[in-house]
Amino acid sequence: MQIRTHVGLSLDGFAAFADGLPAWDAVPTFGEGSHGIDEVTEQCPGLVIGRTSFDQGWEHWVSHWPYDGRKVFVLTTRPLPSGTEQYGVEAVADPADLRRQVESAGLAGDVQVLGGPSTIRTLLDVGEIDLLGVCILPVLLGTGVPLFAIEPVGFSAERWAASPGRPELPAMLPLESQWLFADGSVLLVYRTS
Ligand SMILES: NC(=O)c1ccc[n+]([C@@H]2O[C@H](COP(=O)([O-])OP(=O)(O)OC[C@H]3O[C@@H](n4cnc5c(N)ncnc54)[C@H](OP(=O)(O)O)[C@@H]3O)[C@@H](O)[C@H]2O)c1
Repeated sequence: MQIRTHVGLSLDGFAAFADGLPAWDAVPTFGEGSHGIDEVTEQCPGLVIGRTSFDQGWEHWVSHWPYDGRKVFVLTTRPLPSGTEQYGVEAVADPADLRRQVESAGLAGDVQVLGGPSTIRTLLDVGEIDLLGVCILPVLLGTGVPLFAIEPVGFSAERWAASPGRPELPAMLPLESQWLFADGSVLLVYRTS
């Protein structure tokens, strides 16, 4: 069992528009099963969603559940809304406990982390993501919800002068697979460990 992401990301690093609309919606070619989503769905009987993203969808999903046949886990510190029990939705309060909970559910396959960004970052931090799949969408949003916490710095002549040289390099992640789509989007899947 592998825990993997399949997040749609604008070329400038945003997972959602400033108003919260997912970045996927920036491309008119996005639709049911597009951009490798059918393949991920087929391989992932489990799904993990952050509470913010879950609440965004729940109002609609309560009457039109889109995840029939899949086990949904919600990362949250709060009780789930009533009605979620009919779909077997399970809360995960401790991100480090996700794998154990998934294994107890006895799923035959992988688990897709739908997002949002803070859920992906949290799970990466505790080493719970095996494959980091990012679908780069050929759009520049300029602003929005970034996938990674971006802390920009401007060039400083003082810092440059004081720099000891090349910093310790981060580990390079092995590229597991790549997929170029007709609309210019590119899916990159990296193994994190
Ligand atoms: N581009 C894409 O593929 C994609 C996919 C999905 C979502 N999105 C977008 O992402 C945005 C929402 O993302 P987000 O990052 O703000 O929220 P999120 O990841 O969906 O949910 C955040 C919530 O998850 C829970 N959580 C996070 N870390 C936790 C931890 N360490 N322990 C326990 N619970 C934890 C918390 O819930 P509690 O408050 O209950 O503690 C937190 O408020 C939306 O705009 C959505 O459209 C984009």
